[in-house]
Amino acid sequence: MVTLVTSNKHKFQEIREMFDHNGLNLEWHELTYEEIQADDTYSISYDSCRKLVNVVKAPFFMEDTGLYIDSLKGFPGPYSSYVSRTLGNPGILRLLNGPGRSAKFVTVVSYYDGNSILQFDGVLRGHISAESRGENGFGYDPIFVPEGSDMTLSEMGIDLKNSLSHRSMAISKLISYLKRNDKLK
Ligand code: IMP
Repeated sequence: MVTLVTSNKHKFQEIREMFDHNGLNLEWHELTYEEIQADDTYSISYDSCRKLVNVVKAPFFMEDTGLYIDSLKGFPGPYSSYVSRTLGNPGILRLLNGPGRSAKFVTVVSYYDGNSILQFDGVLRGHISAESRGENGFGYDPIFVPEGSDMTLSEMGIDLKNSLSHRSMAISKLISYLKRNDKLK
C-alpha cells in the first residue's frame, strides 16, 4: 500500500477520494515537514521528498502546490504557504486592482518507491476572482476561478474540484503509473 505524507487534511481528503474512485487504498502519514525556499514547486517538492526517505517507510509520496499570479510575475509561487499565512486571501485581493488577474495552480507530486524519486505534475489555469466566494475547500480556493468556470474552487464540492484540479491531474498521473507498474500490491 502507498502512503501519503501530509499534515493537510484537505489534501488527504481530495487524494483519498481519487484513490477510492480507483478502488485503491491509501495510508495517511500525518506529518509536518520543513520546506526549503526555492524558485519553483518542482525543487521544493523534490527536496521535501528526499528528506523523508529515511523517515517514512517506502513507498510514499507527498506533494507541493503553488499559486502563480501572472501580473505579479508568478508571486506567490514558491512562497504560497507563507503568503497564505501572512497576507491571506484579503491581502492577495488588495494586491490585484482591476484586470490582469490570470493565474495558475501547480501541483508537483514526488513519489519515492524505495529506490528513486519520480515526479508527476498538474497545472490548473484560471483567474483570481474580484472577491472571496464559497465555503468548501481550503487555502486560495475561495479566490480562484478555473478557466471555463464561473465558480471559485470553494463554490465547488470536492467531486467537482477533483474533476478539474491541479492536484487531481498530478494524482491521476501517479495512479496511472502505479497501476501500469503493478506497484499497488
Ligand atoms: P503547500 O503545498 O501545502 O505548501 O501549499 C502552499 C499554499 O497553497 C498553502 O497555503 C495552501 O493552503 C495553498 N494550497 C495548496 N493547495 C491548494 C488548493 O488546492 N487550493 C487552494 N489553495 C491551496
